[in-house]
Amino acid sequence: MERFEKAFLCAAAIVLVIFLGALAYSSLAMGIHLPSHFGMIHYTAGQKLRRVLRQTPPFDRPGVREIAPGKYQVTVIGLTWSFLPAVIELPAGAEVTFVATSMDVIHGFFIPGTRVNMMLIPGQVSECVYRFRQPGEYLLICHEYCGRLHHTMSARMVVK
Ligand code: CUA
Repeated sequence: MERFEKAFLCAAAIVLVIFLGALAYSSLAMGIHLPSHFGMIHYTAGQKLRRVLRQTPPFDRPGVREIAPGKYQVTVIGLTWSFLPAVIELPAGAEVTFVATSMDVIHGFFIPGTRVNMMLIPGQVSECVYRFRQPGEYLLICHEYCGRLHHTMSARMVVK
């Protein structure tokens, strides 16, 4: 009886070490981690977020910006019920950093067929890096229920 207990305890400990190792390897060596909200947008209760965003870089100029050769930053604002900008054009193979936030309620930020999958929270900045290797058209959709016209909230991505 005691022998089995020991064996099970040993097996559990080994499995735990394997899982922790896989977790450490994926986050440290492979750089896989949860989408981060590395920034906050500071505003007081009396201020309108819409107005604050208009003056807060990079959200004062939503759109595509080349930050280095082959590296692009795409700044996106989600609002009921659209994305700003509505059309995003990118070259294939470029490293793209999406920097996004919401102007009003919680929205989703999802590009089907890719691992770009974030939540846009008012007052928080969400970031995700992705490389579109295949040219074509992609759809950026909101996948967090955000009201009556949630199902219409999308933007077009054109990768050339
Ligand atoms: Cu925005 Cu659903």
